[in-house]
Amino acid sequence: MAVLEIRTVPDPILKEVSQPVEKVDDDLRQLMDDMLQTMYGADGIGLAAIQVGVPKRVIVMDLAGRDEAPQPRYFVNPVLSDPSDSLKPYEEGCLSVPTVFDEVERPDRIRIQYLDYDGNECEEIAEDMFAVCIQHEMDHLEGVLFIDYLSRLKRQRAVQKVKKVEKSKDRDAA
Ligand code: NI
Repeated sequence: MAVLEIRTVPDPILKEVSQPVEKVDDDLRQLMDDMLQTMYGADGIGLAAIQVGVPKRVIVMDLAGRDEAPQPRYFVNPVLSDPSDSLKPYEEGCLSVPTVFDEVERPDRIRIQYLDYDGNECEEIAEDMFAVCIQHEMDHLEGVLFIDYLSRLKRQRAVQKVKKVEKSKDRDAA
């Protein structure tokens, strides 16, 4: 497994629409393994392939608590449907928008269909944290970030903040 570089705003690749996966094979599993390791390394709970520069409809996730055993999950070609009418606000963050957190409202219950790590067709109902996370990650596949739901001013501030953070990281690494 390898740790991949996580793309951050304003990297234009994050605006790209990801393409469906044709086959769940060993190459794709390698990508999913690498994505998971990258996500764990960055202390994240979800990661879409586009965030490591790969425009494929693939998401990895682990919603286990700090004291729980890891619960890695893989979603290939996910499709959402039947969102609940009720919305819930949740403070979101994103590995592509580090250090920025803000509230987004989304349906608190949604159906998800996808292929798993072995290419099996799966369907389930996502609720609570899972519903928030899968909708956030699905947005990445459409080139949408959670800051796109915020006001223009807040969005601009967020991008400026990330640019500053990334610049100081580069300085530290030099
Ligand atoms: Ni994100």
